[in-house]
Amino acid sequence: MVPFQSFDMTPHPPQLAAEYIDLTALWERAHAHLRPLREHLPVAGLQSGITVLARLRLERAGWLEEPAEILYVPDANRFLLALSELRRLAGASAEAAIAAVDARLWFAQPTFLNLEPTTRCNYKCWYCIGRHMVQADIRVEDFIRVLDHFPALKTLALVGEGEPLMHKGFFEMAALAKERGIRVMIISNGSTLSESNVRKLCENEIAYIGISIDSADPATFAASRIDGKLEQVWRGIERLRRYRDANGYRYPKIGLKGTLFRHTRNQLPEIIAAAKAHGVEIFEGFQPLNPMRSYTRIYPAEHLAELAHVDEVAARIEQDATAQTELVRVADFCADEGIELDKNGRPNRLRPNCDEQWIYALLTGDITPCCQVKTPISPRWNLFQYDLDQILADPEYENLRFNLWNGLFPRYCEGCWKTRVSVADPGPVCR
Ligand SMILES: C[S@@+](CC[C@H](N)C(=O)[O-])C[C@H]1O[C@@H](n2cnc3c(N)ncnc32)[C@H](O)[C@@H]1O
Ligand code: SF4
Repeated sequence: MVPFQSFDMTPHPPQLAAEYIDLTALWERAHAHLRPLREHLPVAGLQSGITVLARLRLERAGWLEEPAEILYVPDANRFLLALSELRRLAGASAEAAIAAVDARLWFAQPTFLNLEPTTRCNYKCWYCIGRHMVQADIRVEDFIRVLDHFPALKTLALVGEGEPLMHKGFFEMAALAKERGIRVMIISNGSTLSESNVRKLCENEIAYIGISIDSADPATFAASRIDGKLEQVWRGIERLRRYRDANGYRYPKIGLKGTLFRHTRNQLPEIIAAAKAHGVEIFEGFQPLNPMRSYTRIYPAEHLAELAHVDEVAARIEQDATAQTELVRVADFCADEGIELDKNGRPNRLRPNCDEQWIYALLTGDITPCCQVKTPISPRWNLFQYDLDQILADPEYENLRFNLWNGLFPRYCEGCWKTRVSVADPGPVCR
């Protein structure tokens, strides 16, 4: 594993200036506010740089499809393009002058919104940060105000640090989304799949319900999901599958999710087999205990030792998840449904990155570019105070996305699994 913040600090000697084209003026003209976050800049005086990606427009050939690697040299505050990189990308057209540069490689109009419907829950899992947040539901009128910001929205994940089906207006919100042609997805603890909820999930065409199952052993399940009853969850899944299939509904598709720990790290094949036997169809993914600082502060003292095993658990999950063939892979499900959910499989070729097609909105209207960031970062990024376009154009928001896209994570991302190199395929993502 490559430790956090050790990415790509290879010294590049700027004295080789003749082999570089200085793009600084073009960069400043296009987006002067986009540059690597301070915490990623090499120590002053080291004369080294950091590589980021941007597209180039050549005077004669137009925009090049593949983004170029551009070297930012903080000491000189310059953006440099190696002639060899230009020749690699443009071949013979490399002789043409560069007319423009654009480092905004991420999506322009969000098609995927992850909205927190509630922080309330009927469970009290020991690792859940939601139990330490203000307990509230989004008001349905605020839900509508949020949707009004997203005319191009295709998919809405009604998921946060609470149980979506606990929201009394859940099905009203689902129907409002459906009226706008928006597909709704949820993640649930699966404990409230009553006859009535099952029927409404089908009638409202909830496209997907991921159900969290930390263990196939009832006692182990109840230990992490504090008193959660596994049997009740299995019965609920069976009820949903039976009702859906008997009444000819295509949705919801039922997925498997969960959190594994050191003592359960070998249980994934068993959980997958049990889930399939009870009617689950899709493998969404498992994660180890979240080691981000913003989460660890709520973990009870008796569980803190678990943090030392996060990498080991992650490696085991990756190994077993890669080998699993019982359930449909979530990436295939998303591809079939046209859901632009996750581009983790497409590294930016520099380092692990976040280039999600989404926005995460808290029920307070505060938004962040990632569902792992639950604390509002800027008062200007609030959907009840500002237009979405204003927020997306905010220089600080754009610069955060520029850094996430390039895999230059801010300090508060420390510990997130995305800042870690893939165990199975460290390949070209980090160098
Ligand atoms: C926050 S829950 C919300 C949805 C629903 N209540 C549920 O439990 O599935 C979504 C997922 O996050 C996982 N999760 C919650 N807190 C976590 C943590 N601290 N570390 C790792 N996974 C966590 C849960 O296991 C669950 O699969
Ligand atoms: S079921 Fe989900 S929201 Fe509820 S306490 Fe557990 S992790 Fe948190």
